[in-house]
Amino acid sequence: MALVFELDPAVTPGLRDGVVALWTDVSNAGGSVGFVPPVTPGDVRPELVKHFVAMAEGRTRLLVGLDEEGAVAATAFLTHNTHRLMKHWVWLYTVMVHPRHQGKGHGRDLLAAAEEAAGGLEGVDAIRLTCRGGEGLERFYASCGYKEVGRVPGAIRVAPGDDRDDITMLLPLARRG
Ligand SMILES: CC(C)(COP(=O)(O)OP(=O)(O)OC[C@H]1O[C@@H](n2cnc3c(N)ncnc32)[C@H](O)[C@@H]1OP(=O)(O)O)[C@@H](O)C(=O)NCCC(=O)NCCS
Repeated sequence: MALVFELDPAVTPGLRDGVVALWTDVSNAGGSVGFVPPVTPGDVRPELVKHFVAMAEGRTRLLVGLDEEGAVAATAFLTHNTHRLMKHWVWLYTVMVHPRHQGKGHGRDLLAAAEEAAGGLEGVDAIRLTCRGGEGLERFYASCGYKEVGRVPGAIRVAPGDDRDDITMLLPLARRG
């Protein structure tokens, strides 16, 4: 069943705990969302607080995907640049689908919803993101229209002796009207 996507959901304790649980479960399943397993909700919470601060400051928008029970099943955060010369594109951070929902097309739907959300932002022409090499993620993003525009070799050390490339992907937004 398709997820229901919501931009700028009300930040209730339920939503907060749902995102923490999602981020923790995705990380412990080996997802590339800033951690290596094992992690606890207590590890994840401070990172989410950073996103909430940026949301409160109007720099970040949360896109959430809810499953049929209304549980948080997917997220992506759209973040404006603070640099005055880089206001024409946004970052996409913390793209994740819960492991029990992966492989069913929800990731593609999430990126389509993010593209639509970014397309509705005044003066925003592109979405940029980075992903960890060695996981096939660039293929996932390429299947959603993103192009690799940069790669820093070995920039991410997931473990001693296991350095991964930091890959930059870009999606120019089609202008409407
Ligand atoms: C990456 C992620 C968001 C994809 O979501 P998903 O719901 O599993 O993906 P979909 O079912 O929509 O798959 C879309 C396409 O991408 C491919 N794909 C998905 N994950 C992939 C991966 N890790 N590597 C290579 N291809 C992948 C699918 O095979 C599918 O292609 P197809 O239509 O040709 O079969 C999800 O797997 C996830 O949350 N992973 C853990 C967190 C993470 O690493 N996020 C990336 C942060 S940069």
